[in-house]
Amino acid sequence: MKTIIEPFRIKSVEPIRFTTAEERAQLLQQASYNLFQIDARHILIDLLTDSGTSAMSTEQWAAMMRGDESYAGSESFYRLKAVVEELTGFRHVIPTHQGRAAERILFSVMCRPGHVVPNNTHFDTTRANIEFLGAEAVDLPIAEAADTQAWHPFKGNMDVEALEGLIARVGPERIPLVMLTVTDNSGGGQPVSMANIEAVRQVTARHGIPLYLDACRFAENVWFIQQREPGYESWTPKQIAQKMFRLADGCTFSAKKDAFANIGGFLCTNDDRLAEQETQLLILTEGYPTYGGMAGRDLEAIAVGLQEVLDPDYLRYRITSTAYLGRHIAAAGVPIVEPPGGHAIYIDAGRMLPHIPRHQFPAQSLAVELYRHAGIRSVEIGSVMFGDKAHHELLRLAIPRRVYTQSHIDYVVEAILEVNERRHELRGYEIVWEPRFLRHFSCRFRPVR
Ligand code: F0G
Repeated sequence: MKTIIEPFRIKSVEPIRFTTAEERAQLLQQASYNLFQIDARHILIDLLTDSGTSAMSTEQWAAMMRGDESYAGSESFYRLKAVVEELTGFRHVIPTHQGRAAERILFSVMCRPGHVVPNNTHFDTTRANIEFLGAEAVDLPIAEAADTQAWHPFKGNMDVEALEGLIARVGPERIPLVMLTVTDNSGGGQPVSMANIEAVRQVTARHGIPLYLDACRFAENVWFIQQREPGYESWTPKQIAQKMFRLADGCTFSAKKDAFANIGGFLCTNDDRLAEQETQLLILTEGYPTYGGMAGRDLEAIAVGLQEVLDPDYLRYRITSTAYLGRHIAAAGVPIVEPPGGHAIYIDAGRMLPHIPRHQFPAQSLAVELYRHAGIRSVEIGSVMFGDKAHHELLRLAIPRRVYTQSHIDYVVEAILEVNERRHELRGYEIVWEPRFLRHFSCRFRPVR
């Protein structure tokens, strides 16, 4: 059989609410055209993020009943720790309430003003946490990543030569760690090859610099390696993941993505001294080291999710269904980041709406119109999010895991194609107010007349 179906059946359903185009126009105005400011009950299909939005399995819900809510020494922590240790091989597992808490603790311990942290492409919270400490976050994607239309099997790879150049220029003592984001979210959900991780590892090892993975979508990355990288065809996803993690000295992890959890995260390291400092900070702001800002039941959900996500039937369905959305809109002429990524499809709004200049935020304009037209929420990943550091003007359609069916996605395809038909009518936006950090969450826009 060629048809790939959702590898689950649905036991519990949640109604979604329809609104009219007139209601949505008014809601947009009230929200100052910032889709983060629109209440979820007014959204029909929410593709804002794949983070914390997964449907949990019966096994996860069952495990949650076993959650040990003890303040110290919770059984649930030891169950999670065992799963993480088997998967990653890291010596220390430090639980945090979500990924950015792990980032904050890691960078607080490792980064000082004047330091430089390279990454294939930093995610916004990663960049912000580094910059908050007065250090510099540098993106080193491969050249192919600059062209959204270029096809490269591992477009999330880091430019290893550029990394060598950076180390030579600033000196290894100013680089406290190198990070690789798998998959590369800000670069289009693109995977990093095992060969690239190995090459980066060689460089960092030579200079005595620790290598960390920003690993929240590790399983999707693993599936691309199995499908595309010669030599891994007969490996199981788990074996590939085990190899990948063992090339690194530690990781930050948001459990809200590939662990199918609605909240949670952790920080891992092999460095005993760092782990001690990180644990001190953890106690100060997150919690005791056997829960770190989570409930015992959250630890259980993550432990089960980390195992479920490596099921080849799930990963095949997941990556195929994301590509389904991408192929159907690209076939009708909508420019997407090629090839389709793991968790999301990214429309190249700069290319789709060339009449809207960067400083008038073409991807924001498209996001607003898609909501107005069809009640679909997406997110701008471009100059609103990254300012003048943006590489592209992208609109991300992130697909929550195990939540929407193919007919929901068909509706999304139809809506995008209808908006594409009258793309020449779309107008730009200007920002009329913004906060100091992470402005995309709360800034206010006005349509350009
Ligand atoms: N790293 C990457 C690559 C991410 O995509 C995210 C979150 C984080 C770290 C931070 O994790 O949210 O648990 O604090 N990404 C979400 C998104 C928010 O929509 O892409 P967190």
